[in-house]
Amino acid sequence: EQAADFRRVLARWYKQHARPLPWRETRDPYRIWVSEVMLQQTRVNAVLEHYARFLRKFPTIVSLALAPEADVLAVWSGLGYYRRARMLHKAAQFITAELDGVLPSTSAELRKLPGIGEYTSAAIASIAFGESIAVVDGNVERVLLRLTGRPEQATSESKRFVADQAAAVVPQRRSGTNAPGDHNQAMMELGATICLPRGPLCLQCPVYDFCRTRGEHKTEAREKMRSR
Ligand code: ADE
Repeated sequence: EQAADFRRVLARWYKQHARPLPWRETRDPYRIWVSEVMLQQTRVNAVLEHYARFLRKFPTIVSLALAPEADVLAVWSGLGYYRRARMLHKAAQFITAELDGVLPSTSAELRKLPGIGEYTSAAIASIAFGESIAVVDGNVERVLLRLTGRPEQATSESKRFVADQAAAVVPQRRSGTNAPGDHNQAMMELGATICLPRGPLCLQCPVYDFCRTRGEHKTEAREKMRSR
């Protein structure tokens, strides 16, 4: 089956090529939450500098909740979009006051928290808790539109198409692995490192064989590369 083959090829590539990022070395839901909030509007390299410092200063949800807002914003400085930090802080306070300091474990519950929308809830639920739910960010949207050959459009129909496509390939939860979380991160990684907005590296793409627009953006014939 096409979707199963796609998942397998992507998973194998991700295991071999995933960048060793600190939030991939943890299953602590709080740490994954912080990483996803930082990554929403900020590049990986800029996040790396702030991520460790933020977690040193606020190692737990409760420590974040108890800090004055000014301290949280100070540690956030350099990342920009301070609303994210305010919401993170507010959510930590709510979790501490109402949920015994424990982050909810389902996307539906996570979505009720300040600053956690469709993207962040799906990312945390799949990566930290193995929920089978697709993550769609700008990278994933571009990857799926190119794979299917559907033109980019800023319509709600296009959004729905992308969401349906993403949902169709996300793996089921499997015991002993984190298939959904790894799959979602692999899709994002593909967009961030191979299926670039301009000048995608189709020659290096693990899912070239599945792509309806393969080579349309390429700068060098794949055949030439293969015969070298
Ligand atoms: N962008 C946002 N979250 C990410 C993640 N977990 N992996 C790769 N890229 C991301």
